[in-house]
Amino acid sequence: MLSAELGHEILYLTKEDVINAGITDQEIIEQARFTLAAHGNEAYQMPPKMALYPVVDSFMHSMPGYVPETGACGIKWAECFPDNYKHNLPQLSGLVIVNCPETGMPVCIMDATWITGKRTAGVTAVSASHLARKDTHEIGLIGAGVQGLEQLLFLPLVLPNLKTIKITDKIPASAERLRDTIKEKFPHLNVVCKETNEEIVRGSQLIVSATIVLAVPNPGIKDEWIEPGTLCMPIDRNSMWEWKTFLGVDKFVIDSADEFNFFVSAGKLPKETPDIHAQLGEIVAGHRPGRENDTERILNLNIGMGIEDVVVAKEIYDRARAKELGRVLPL
Ligand SMILES: NC(=O)c1ccc[n+]([C@@H]2O[C@H](COP(=O)([O-])OP(=O)(O)OC[C@H]3O[C@@H](n4cnc5c(N)ncnc54)[C@H](O)[C@@H]3O)[C@@H](O)[C@H]2O)c1
Repeated sequence: MLSAELGHEILYLTKEDVINAGITDQEIIEQARFTLAAHGNEAYQMPPKMALYPVVDSFMHSMPGYVPETGACGIKWAECFPDNYKHNLPQLSGLVIVNCPETGMPVCIMDATWITGKRTAGVTAVSASHLARKDTHEIGLIGAGVQGLEQLLFLPLVLPNLKTIKITDKIPASAERLRDTIKEKFPHLNVVCKETNEEIVRGSQLIVSATIVLAVPNPGIKDEWIEPGTLCMPIDRNSMWEWKTFLGVDKFVIDSADEFNFFVSAGKLPKETPDIHAQLGEIVAGHRPGRENDTERILNLNIGMGIEDVVVAKEIYDRARAKELGRVLPL
């Protein structure tokens, strides 16, 4: 087993090392379920994010978290710059620092892009298993980027009756690429591209949007298209959705009320807010009901929680040591 001398060295893991640690999508779902339950049971520490906004529509978030049951302790420093495609760079980047909870010492630094992609989709999958209609057979995705891919890799794992996936993107070739990838992975599914958001929304029991978080939202999803019984999953906050949808759904579920309130107070979400039915973790832990009938419209906004990142990062660190991945660097 690779070991760095505590207090004198750290393990450094590239994105490739992180992937080679070998955590499966199914394991990510179980970790998301565990972390959400820990949140619902208040068995965690996680102060709300601190943020920098260097350019319009960008953000940099500090996301600390500690989950005592697993010893997962650390922080993600996450960046989101929507114009990065102009530099041939991804929209999202980041690093995770893993700390030893007994001494506080940093033990590992790793690339966070894989973790962000996977854990976000893992949370959506857990959400869908509690909040989507059991007979969900048609889902729609707007935004066929990194997150779009992960969402569509995870959702079929928890929707046993799924038959059709509809995809759109402002760049049609991106939607077509994603269609081909998902079709290859799940040959039993009907995977199709659509030209309009309306075609994505109408007839879907679950809708995911994963585009760009805009300082000034440009809602491309009209409230009247959303049918009774739909689960709405904005990964990109309120960029694509009319605020009246947030205010008018039967149940508004949030991952963290603290994070939600932080975004409202920072002016990143409107001041008039919907009543929170529950935090997702409270539903996962069994303290609050999830979906109760096939007609309620539910919107689940998951802003993202640092505890989700550090739980996955700790597991990657443990596996990387066992597999002797990465490089030991002096402190
Ligand atoms: N809530 C969370 O925890 C969390 C985690 C990760 C990412 N995100 C958010 O998810 C979003 C997507 O991230 P990503 O890494 O997939 O980015 P990405 O750049 O890889 O993909 C975004 C895709 O959306 C498309 N797009 C942009 N505007 C569109 C529009 N108006 N209509 C249709 N398609 C449009 C782009 O062409 C691109 O294919 C970002 O807003 C990011 O902040 C949220």
